[in-house]
Amino acid sequence: MIELRDVRKTYPGKHGTEFAAVDGVSLTVAEGTVLGVVGHSGAGKSTLLRLVNHLEVPTAGRVLVGGRDLTALDERGRRAVRRSIGMVFQHVNLFRSRTVLGNVAYPLRLAGTPRAEARRRALEVLRFVGLEDRARHWPEQLSGGQRQRVGVARALATSPKVLLCDEATSALDPQTTREVLELLRRVNTELGVTVVLITHEMDVVRFLCDQVAVMSEGRVVESGEVYEVFARPRHPVTKVFVRSALGDPPEGEALERLRGRHTGRLVTVPVARDVPAAQHLSRLLREHRVDFTIAHAGVGEVRDAALGSVTLELRGEEGDVDAFVAALDAVRTVRATEKVGADAR
Ligand SMILES: Nc1ncnc2c1ncn2[C@@H]1O[C@H](COP(=O)(O)OP(=O)(O)OP(=O)(O)O)[C@@H](O)[C@H]1O
Ligand SMILES: [Mg+2]
Repeated sequence: MIELRDVRKTYPGKHGTEFAAVDGVSLTVAEGTVLGVVGHSGAGKSTLLRLVNHLEVPTAGRVLVGGRDLTALDERGRRAVRRSIGMVFQHVNLFRSRTVLGNVAYPLRLAGTPRAEARRRALEVLRFVGLEDRARHWPEQLSGGQRQRVGVARALATSPKVLLCDEATSALDPQTTREVLELLRRVNTELGVTVVLITHEMDVVRFLCDQVAVMSEGRVVESGEVYEVFARPRHPVTKVFVRSALGDPPEGEALERLRGRHTGRLVTVPVARDVPAAQHLSRLLREHRVDFTIAHAGVGEVRDAALGSVTLELRGEEGDVDAFVAALDAVRTVRATEKVGADAR
């Protein structure tokens, strides 16, 4: 649905130099996917998004949406493609002098849709976002979350195939954020719209996205399926973001604090969909007659599976505990060996 080929966007920098806000990004977003773009402030996320709908013209490279090369089209062709792309921002700019209905109908009127038809369609999308009963209200009579949903409705009015969201939930409280995220999920699953969203919250990514791209200094430094990236982050920037969502397994000082509270042997067991240690845990505990208390748990849901680690304080006969730890290590080693084998091939 979206393809960026070696896209660059430079701005004039200091002393006649050039500054690359987006520096050679290639990216493919399949139809029906939700892609999350994360990265520190200034990484180039907003610029990247604006390149997708040609609000920014790339300095080099090509941008294709729905198979059509925006960089090769004339202004008229570009307008047509842009109509198939909706956009939602952190702060929705609604016309204060128009009703909610008028705001949502506006892009349709702009595209030349007859008045009655535009109103019909506007009511339809307002129903979709759950605000049909607010159609006659003025924007200032709405809460921030409702306003954001009107923003989504307005973006959906022209039935776009792609929705771009630039920090659409950053200004909202957790409950409202959740509502907007649920709405975006329905936009994707029920309407089949391809979504690209920028966020600085990994919680948003793990709730909503299929794919994630991490940006740093204008480049995409890591990308892939969300669970994979969360389970095995490679780039330092990615690690920082993943840690912010899942926390770290206790190490160093944190582990010492746990040791202060728990006198028994502590083991940390990774929890991930393709790591057998957690799956074998209850059997191994039973077989070795070892009991436990949870000393620490940092497990979160990523997409539809659990990820993180639990730290257990083990209780039982000394010999049993030794045997259990050895057996647990063995299941972990199985995976390590498999991995080495797979890498060698
Ligand atoms: N029109 C412009 N002219 C000059 N420099 C720009 C322009 N737009 C963006 N930049 C610069 O490009 C870089 C990337 O900006 P961008 O807004 O894409 O970052 P971002 O990742 O969205 O950051 P944030 O998380 O703060 O929104 C920044 O250093 C910014 O100052
Ligand atoms: Mg930005």
